[in-house]
Parts: sequence; structure tokens; C-alpha cells
Amino acid sequence: MKPLVQFRGPSLRLNRESTVAALALVDNSEIPGFYKLSMKERIALVKKVAGLTDEESKAIAETGGLPAEVADRMIENVIGGITMPLGVAVNFKVNGKDYLVPMALEEPSVVAAASNAAKMARVKGGFRVTNTGPLMIGQIQVVGVPNPEGAKKSLLQKRNEILKLANDQDPLLVSLGGGAKELNVRVISTLKGQMLVAELVVNTGDAMGANAVNTMAEAVAPMVEELTGGKVLLRIISNLADRRLVRASATFDKDAIGGADVVEGIVSAYAFADADPYRCATHNKGIMNGVVAVGIACGQDIRALEAGAHSYASRTGKYKPLTVWEKDSNGDLVGRLEMPMAVGLVGGASRTHPAAKAAIKILGVTKAVDLADVMAAVGLAQNFAALRALAAEGIQLGHMKLHARNMAVSAGATGRLIEVVAEKMIEEKRIRFDRAKELVEEFAKHRNRSG
Ligand code: MEV
Repeated sequence: MKPLVQFRGPSLRLNRESTVAALALVDNSEIPGFYKLSMKERIALVKKVAGLTDEESKAIAETGGLPAEVADRMIENVIGGITMPLGVAVNFKVNGKDYLVPMALEEPSVVAAASNAAKMARVKGGFRVTNTGPLMIGQIQVVGVPNPEGAKKSLLQKRNEILKLANDQDPLLVSLGGGAKELNVRVISTLKGQMLVAELVVNTGDAMGANAVNTMAEAVAPMVEELTGGKVLLRIISNLADRRLVRASATFDKDAIGGADVVEGIVSAYAFADADPYRCATHNKGIMNGVVAVGIACGQDIRALEAGAHSYASRTGKYKPLTVWEKDSNGDLVGRLEMPMAVGLVGGASRTHPAAKAAIKILGVTKAVDLADVMAAVGLAQNFAALRALAAEGIQLGHMKLHARNMAVSAGATGRLIEVVAEKMIEEKRIRFDRAKELVEEFAKHRNRSG
């Protein structure tokens, strides 16, 4: 499928003077020096590359993008909105295609780390991602079943009728090739004795699918009661979306990432996470830094993504990393990620939030599976970047740079002084508010004397 973002002409190394000329010439997601541009220049560039309208770029650049009347319709008891920074990660190549990746989050270093990791992945062709397609599971809990094994048989015998009733609820989805495809039935032992769980497996197409699946589960419940002689309680989607998996992989050239020691360091960091749940939680959190940031930018249900990720990580009964890192026969580093990715492009905030709509346009995806693929690549990139930083210089340096800038601003620095104060504090390894204040005052005195 053709992405919405059309890149033209040869890529160009950007500097401030050539920005305007470069606007028309970017041909892939490699934009060296993107981080050096002002916010205005960055949005102008992205606007041009992604073909955003004035309204779309304004939704992103100026207001946080959510008109009060839209917000008031999205949830209850609305009193306002809260915005967070929206960055764009560059350098991403996924399945041979270039993407500018919108990421919304409050944590410094994450966007830069993703961009750097993507740059290193490009050396060996970028990220390769496959997925199982958009299959979601809807659960119907049945209690008080007199003969659970017999009831299971009865349900499976009427499988076609149950699926038809489910599909009657969503003719549009069915006409697009989606709909309820399978019925599975399990008998489980619980604190309250045996229960029967009927599960609809639904191809939800370009939707995340919660509405479609929940509607189907509710619709078939009376038939399930009749066939089992039990009582239906819950009828709801499962966020353990293990039929909707993405699998991303990338090879990182050992020289491009800092040599054989870095490869060994990352493999050892992975081994630590594989063996220890305390480390594994943080390892997987690093992956979710990328996945969730793209999810927020694109208006996704990130609680569902988190629930799916961590339950999938525990599927063997042990909490495990969502990625695997190994050294190949050339000594290069190979990373693989496998996780559920329940995302959608129809319904929800991806359709109502103007900034999320513009972010999706920047990404240039029109199919939910393509969004899922890019999010998997970003998760893998983010994990690589965190492990590389941790195994080498530690994570704090990058964080502290931004922290130092923020501290300089809080201490009253403006304009060029922000960079000067921040750099001085980093050089002195004293990134503290009191030091920032002293420096701002010293510079002010100096300016007064010389001015
Ligand atoms: C911080 O947000 C994420 C990391 O802690 C991830 C990790 O430790 O792998 C750096």
C-alpha cells in the first residue's frame, strides 16, 4: 500500500540556512539535524513532507489540538484538557518503507533514542515486521452449568449458528472481510468452581475492535445460555490479544553500534531480564516507552496495549522479556520483538481527536496493521537504545542534558543563556537548581558590567 507521506528528491543535510530549500527535497525519514531546528521549522518541514493542511498543522503546533466541544463529547465531566509534547522520531525504515514517527510523551531522551536506534538499524536495512492480522477475542463467562463438558460439545455443535448471530451484528465489518471467525470453548477451574468460557475470535479489520467484539459477545449470550443451561455473566473483549501479534526484527551492525563489547553488553542485559522479573519489568517498560508514545500520538487505547503486553509477557507462568537479543554468526546484534498490538484507525480518538488524526497522517498509515507494524519497530528500537545506553555510558547522561536545560529555564535563563547554563552544569557535573540560579545571576552581572 502506498503511504500517504510522499517523499521526493534526494535527501539533504539540513542546516538552518538550507531549511527552506530542504523542505521540498526530503526523500526519506533520514533528516540529519532535525533536532537542531526550531519547533516552528520542524512543524513546517513535517507539514510539507506529510502534506498536512494549515488546520492540521495548527492542531498539532498550537493548541494541543483538542477543541473543548470535542473533548466534552469524548468522556464525562470534562473540565479541560492536558497536553504533552509531541515529537517526531526520524530515520525509521520498516519493511523497506520510510516513516516519520509521531511520539507523545513527557520523558526526555526517548524520541532522540528512537531516532538514533532507527539510524543504526538502517545500516542493515531497517526493521522487518510481520503480523498475524487483527484477530481479537471476546469472552462469554457461563456459570452454574450442570454438565460443563456436555455444554461445551453443544456449543461447538452450534458453532455456525453462534458465529452467524455474532456476524449479524456488524454487516459492515463482515462486508470488509472481517467478523467472527472462530468459536472456542474452555472449561476452567476457579475459586467458585468450574466455569465455562465461550470465546469468539473476531477479525476486527481496521478497528481496535472493543466495540464490535463486545456487541457480538452480548448478542450471542442468550443462545449460549440456552445451549449450556447455565447463566452468562461477563461478555467482554480480552486484552490478552495473543491472536493479534506483531513480530519485529532488526540486525544491528556491530561496528555501527560501537563494537563487539556493546553487542556482548546488550546480550548480557537481555539475559538479566530473562532471568529476573525485577529487571524484566523495566526492560519491558523501555519497550512500552516507544509503543505507548506512538499510541498516544495516534489516539490509541494505551491501557489495552499495556495490559496486552504484560499479560503476554507472563503467558508461560513466568514474566519474560518481550524481546530477544542475540549475536549472529557475523558478530552482529539481532533483536526480535513479539507482542500483542491491538490498535485501530476507525473509531475512537484516532477519528475524533484532530491532533491524533494529523499525527496518523504524518505517519502515513491507512491500515491498522501498518500502524501496528511501525509501533512494533519503535518498541524494538527503544529497547535497543535503552540497553545500549545502559550497557555503555548509563542512561543518565542523555536524561541529564534535557534536565539541565529545564533547570536552566526554571532558574530564569532565556534564549542562548539556556544552552550556556546547561552546558556549564553538565561540564561541572553539578546539575542542580541552586547552581543554575548562581550561573544565571553570574551571567546577568557579567552582561550588566559589559553592557
Ligand atoms: C526509562 O524510561 C526506561 C529504561 O529504564 C528502560 C530499561 O531500563 O531498559 C531506560
